Amino acid sequence: MHDIAAMKKIIITVDGWSSCGKSTMARQMAKELNYIFIDSGAMYRAITLYFIRNQIDLASKISINHALGNITLSFGFNPMNGNNEIFLNGENVEALIRDMSVASKVSEVAAIKEVRDFAVAQQRLIGRNKGIVMDGRDIGTAVFPEAELKIFMTADVDVRVARRYKELVLTNPNIMIEAVKENLETRDYADSNREFSPLRKADDAIVLDNSRLTADEQLALALTWAKECMNG
Ligand code: DC
Repeated sequence: MHDIAAMKKIIITVDGWSSCGKSTMARQMAKELNYIFIDSGAMYRAITLYFIRNQIDLASKISINHALGNITLSFGFNPMNGNNEIFLNGENVEALIRDMSVASKVSEVAAIKEVRDFAVAQQRLIGRNKGIVMDGRDIGTAVFPEAELKIFMTADVDVRVARRYKELVLTNPNIMIEAVKENLETRDYADSNREFSPLRKADDAIVLDNSRLTADEQLALALTWAKECMNG
């Protein structure tokens, strides 16, 4: 039995393709290790929501910088569901940012250099004391290249589409599986082909393909890796 509190505090990064369950696994790891969990995608989604609401012109650097100056992002723990939920200027937008209107715009917004600089600065600040599990696309490559444990998650595309569809249909019964697949493939392409911090596996990341793993199996595997790193 390991005494987690006595172990070295580390940074754990979980990157990978859309809808492979990165946030779910990162959240479970954080809970088991008593670490902070940060869903960096939620930050890009909240910024996108602000841009949509305020009709920010993505071609205008002035408008983008002005808008970013008016955005404050924070996370708050919800004891009802155990989630670390995102707040945009004090408003809990955790549910709103999962909407397809945000999903279809977020890759375009996340590709903007000023937006990335804004989000990455906050991510580094949150992780400065270690003891954190952060999931996203560039966490192991650009945000915390010195992280002690880097996991790169992947799963077959049809498995990922089926999982995301199951999630979205709960709140939107009219959603078509084809639309979910198209959004996922478009985002994967945009996220891995953009100019700044594209999605890619860090050279020292461990690949976790969960197409045929249960949530419990993948969590057990990831926790074994984490404890190895925490033991130095
Ligand atoms: O993890 P997610 O699907 O909620 O992320 C939403 C989008 O945000 C994703 O399509 C790409 C972008 N993103 C990013 O560019 N960098 C990150 N670290 C996290 C997310």
